[in-house]
Amino acid sequence: SSSPKVALLGASGGIGQPLGLLLKQDKLIANLALYDVVNTPGVAADLSHIDTNAKVSAYTGSGELHAAVEGADVVVIPAGVPRKPGMTRDDLFNTNAGIVRDLVAAIAKASPKALIAIITNPVNSTVPIAYEVLKKAGVYDKRRVFGVTTLDVVRAQAFVAELKGLDASKTTVPVIGGHAGITIIPLLSQVKPATKFTDDEIKKLTPRIQDAGTEVVNAKAGAGSATLSMALAGARFTNALLRGLKGENNVQCSYVASDAVKGVEYFSTPVELGPNGVEKILGVGKVSAYEQQLIDAAVSELNKNVQKGVAFVK
Ligand code: APR
Repeated sequence: SSSPKVALLGASGGIGQPLGLLLKQDKLIANLALYDVVNTPGVAADLSHIDTNAKVSAYTGSGELHAAVEGADVVVIPAGVPRKPGMTRDDLFNTNAGIVRDLVAAIAKASPKALIAIITNPVNSTVPIAYEVLKKAGVYDKRRVFGVTTLDVVRAQAFVAELKGLDASKTTVPVIGGHAGITIIPLLSQVKPATKFTDDEIKKLTPRIQDAGTEVVNAKAGAGSATLSMALAGARFTNALLRGLKGENNVQCSYVASDAVKGVEYFSTPVELGPNGVEKILGVGKVSAYEQQLIDAAVSELNKNVQKGVAFVK
């Protein structure tokens, strides 16, 4: 619409609050609806004092969920529990799968055309859950649901720029696959500006990018996982979706229903965003032999994650 509404579900959390702050500053947003099971009036009062145009409103508890998402052009979901040291993203499944299922069921009713950006982990499974819920509700459109993997791109760009002494804001690194461990595949052969890496550099950088989330979980020592960098990534991706809605086509890596790689139904590659969400899946491009090995290894792991999500809804 000409005055876009963004609904943020899980707005009071570690990601939700800084993400709300960043979205409040996004000139493309007219209405920012904050939804959570706790504390949204306080967060909304606080954000509403910022002198930017986005109108902030608060919704609390499932009784207000329908109103929160009604008419939303984009719904961003960071609701759910985060990791503690020793946990994988998959360990969050039992709690977060049900949260995402219920939130998406409400979106299917109140705002079936919304673009849905999912941050809640395990993203490899929560995105298939969202698709299955939409299918059940009869409003399935594979172009409209996204797993936000932008943080993997952000991290890869930061680490590559740091290692090579590049301007981080002008360094691009595609990261494909999924959003956990070995399913995260940085394409260092496609870094821009074109950059040469030694084998040793590739074999150190790749696992660092794959395990960067755990680096934060361990450093926070029980207080949770990445929130500030994730908020930045979520805001960057939301802004890209909104530009796409306006017809400004742009390319982002995102975990979506995809035929880019054989044998797996969901995969992140660069995708072109437009008025309907995914306009075009650009695929993996030319990869090195090492990257092809990573892709092959990721496929069976991803399939397990996808099946777990699908089975949960069925
Ligand atoms: N509906 C809406 N909000 C919910 C629900 C629900 N059913 N259940 C929990 N929440 C809210 C919590 O009240 C809290 O405000 O989600 C928020 C989560 O915040 P944190 O616990 O601080 O977690 P955070 O670090 O923000 O991570 C959230 O994002 O990256 C992922 O792995 C991470 O899955 C985790 C999620």
